[in-house]
Amino acid sequence: MEVIEILQEASNRIYENVKDLAGTEHAAGDFGRGAGGDISRNIDIIAEKTVIEFLKEINFECIVLGEECGRIELSDNPKGYLIMDAIDGSANAVRGVPFFCSSLAFATENKLSSITDGVIKNLANGEMYWASKNKGSFFNGKRINVHKNIPIYKIIGINISGASSDLVKRFLPIFEKNEHLRHFGANALEMAFFSRGLMDIFIDLRGKIRIQDIAAGYLIVKEAGGLLMDTNLNSLDSDLSYETRVSFIAAANKKILDEITSLIDQ
Ligand code: IPD
Ligand code: CA
Repeated sequence: MEVIEILQEASNRIYENVKDLAGTEHAAGDFGRGAGGDISRNIDIIAEKTVIEFLKEINFECIVLGEECGRIELSDNPKGYLIMDAIDGSANAVRGVPFFCSSLAFATENKLSSITDGVIKNLANGEMYWASKNKGSFFNGKRINVHKNIPIYKIIGINISGASSDLVKRFLPIFEKNEHLRHFGANALEMAFFSRGLMDIFIDLRGKIRIQDIAAGYLIVKEAGGLLMDTNLNSLDSDLSYETRVSFIAAANKKILDEITSLIDQ
């Protein structure tokens, strides 16, 4: 099996195992804090176990970097890292808000820029996004690109959950000058929506997002032709450590990047 097929099959198995759980009492069970620092919910644990069991079943030689389970070495001779957020948007999943996904990526080295494959599966409806390096991004089998034309409605995604008051103040000019702001509550799926052209820019400058939440989105955004920048407007990269938190801007083109960042800087 190719790496991309392994990530796709693992994502399909997550979907089968959790699709009827969202919004139920059973989804919410508290398993204490996971490696990423948040409370692990039953639905998170079920989804992660599904992936780990599958990887063991096919004897995939890798190091798993899971949001809940932490680092698990499945081989003495690993081919690389499998970066797993088995449920991104856990709060939505537990409450039954139909916007949550799985995010699985494979990296050959300890950095984002070495990611070769990424899969995001919308666990509310089974839709799948994926990319392999230099091969493009796909949505349910069809090639996707970021929005290229001047949009009829400019849609701006901003993650403001738990943002500091200073950051919210910096965003005020964007709030005042733009009518169509969105924040759905699962960063990976928001990056997938952006890659499909459903948003023109997606911003998360809170300095809170973990590698697991963005690893698959990183490749899908880039392979769909998006700009993916850090706060200094350099191309985003980082190591894969559990301590690392990032901020980023995904923009469909330089024009919207300049337009929105000039508002943030005022
Ligand atoms: C969360 C989602 C959410 C973001 C949080 C993340 P999780 O991921 O991506 O959109 O605001 O910072 O922690 O915890 O549900 O995997
Ligand atoms: Ca998660």
